[in-house]
Amino acid sequence: MKKIIISAGLFLLPLANIQAQFTDINIVKEVKVINKGVVASAHPLASEAGAQMLSAGGNAFDASIATQFALAVVYPQAGNIGGGGFMIATTSGGKRISLDYRETAPAKAFANMYLDKKGNALPELSQNGHLAVGIPGAVAGMFAMHKYAKLPMAKLIQPAIDLAEQGFAITPDEAQLLNEHKSDFIKYSSGPSAFVKNTDWKTGDILRQPELAETLRRIQQSGEKGFYEGKTAELIVAEMKKGKGIITAADLKNYKVQERTPLSFPYKGHEIVTMPLPSSGGILLAQMFGMTSLIGLDGKEVNSPEAVQLMVEAERRAYADRAEYLGDPSFVADKTEMLTNADYIRRRFADYNPKAATPSSAVGKIIPAKESEQTTHISVLDKEGNAVSATTTLNGLYGSRTVVAGAGFLLNNEMDDFSIKPGVPNMYGAVGNEANAIQPGKRMLSSMSPTVVLKNNKPAIVVGTPGGTTIPTSVFQSIVNVIDFKKNANEAVNLPKFHHQWLPEVVSVEEGFPQHTIRELEKMNYKIQKREKIGRVEMIVVEDSGFIHAVGDGRGDDSVAWEK
Ligand code: DON
Repeated sequence: MKKIIISAGLFLLPLANIQAQFTDINIVKEVKVINKGVVASAHPLASEAGAQMLSAGGNAFDASIATQFALAVVYPQAGNIGGGGFMIATTSGGKRISLDYRETAPAKAFANMYLDKKGNALPELSQNGHLAVGIPGAVAGMFAMHKYAKLPMAKLIQPAIDLAEQGFAITPDEAQLLNEHKSDFIKYSSGPSAFVKNTDWKTGDILRQPELAETLRRIQQSGEKGFYEGKTAELIVAEMKKGKGIITAADLKNYKVQERTPLSFPYKGHEIVTMPLPSSGGILLAQMFGMTSLIGLDGKEVNSPEAVQLMVEAERRAYADRAEYLGDPSFVADKTEMLTNADYIRRRFADYNPKAATPSSAVGKIIPAKESEQTTHISVLDKEGNAVSATTTLNGLYGSRTVVAGAGFLLNNEMDDFSIKPGVPNMYGAVGNEANAIQPGKRMLSSMSPTVVLKNNKPAIVVGTPGGTTIPTSVFQSIVNVIDFKKNANEAVNLPKFHHQWLPEVVSVEEGFPQHTIRELEKMNYKIQKREKIGRVEMIVVEDSGFIHAVGDGRGDDSVAWEK
């Protein structure tokens, strides 16, 4: 169904492609506005919560905070207060800001905590239940972001409280996923929760979360202490004691957000401003753009054998370096400068062969190992020109599947992003070594890549996505699709994607990827594997005409909303 909404005023939106309707939920895939703020997120009600704040005089930071809290209610698979994330922002006044509210390892954590007596890795424990949980950073992150906002925090949390208390109609995707994870919620939580009921969930069922509403109200009334101290903290610690959890009251009280300097580098007349360590995302992007530029994409077609081959080889070398060198810079040497300088990038790409696949063993040391995705992104641009790009995660779908009894929210399973043993892949197939080994207080290496691309110092693209290790390659492709292949935001997001990460030695492609490209790559010795959807990109592009084109990925319930 296509619905055209024309509104009086300064903006026009002929693109509203209404995909589905659930009681009161409209998924709007794209919109074009002028002189109005826009929000793109994984859920229409969360985008709407953000847009409401823009309409009430708030800026992009206000909108992001309201959207993040609303996602914690309407998108329990990844939206969260029990997880963590990163934010990149550029302000109309020329500031570039990076916030790191990544989870940290508890004080009682240690390098071998997920190994059995014989030294075998136990991913069951790093991925599920109480022991998989890192100290959540999301709530502290929202308070750090609030420094740049205009409206009172209490107002920004209110839409989330209303949604939790009154309930909302769930989408077909959410109904299906809640049903699929029912036995996990029961297995890994100590008490009953809003996510489990006797009968199956159906599209349009109302999900009410009264305990979560109370937790949000404690945050609304007491600020950060409403989460990290007092009743909420007591409930988290009590939940830990009921499983194999090790998080203590002191761990929660001591959690700190880090304000970091964004990593930025030039690309074809643009400046790409993105996430530094402890995310690998920015370094991967700098390396992938840098290596690709040595040959250039000019004259190549999007998703053609020539373009994909070049980009895959850049990805191979960048991800090999990720595994070797990267970890939390407060604990291990920071290799950013070494890995992103132009000389290094040139030397690293010197063995590139445009005619054949380079074996992964030729670009990095493979540690033999016997042992054999959920996050969400918010892109906001306000009418003053402030851009906020924030990615947040519980790690896996519904995180550890542990709901804090009495507090109504899910905890992350972010500990699995550490390298639990050198060479043993995590749930996204990423390998690592000592640089990303577990230590108390350390942040686990991430791939999240919230990014703002500037042109003449003004936001041109606001972009980010979930997808574990596919995040940097999805952001890379989405930006290249706009800058090099001149695609509009909708095409840039929805064209079929590919992904390579050094190990495993395969190139994965989405359904619909051009057959011709697959055949040509196979001839050059690439192993191609079809896989499920890659990423959920939220993208805002400021077109040369001045129109702002906001797009929510067609792969999910992603939806845009705008200032009224
Ligand atoms: O920080 C990271 O890189 C991962 N924990 C992100 C996980 C993710 O994107 C899952 N989404 N599908």
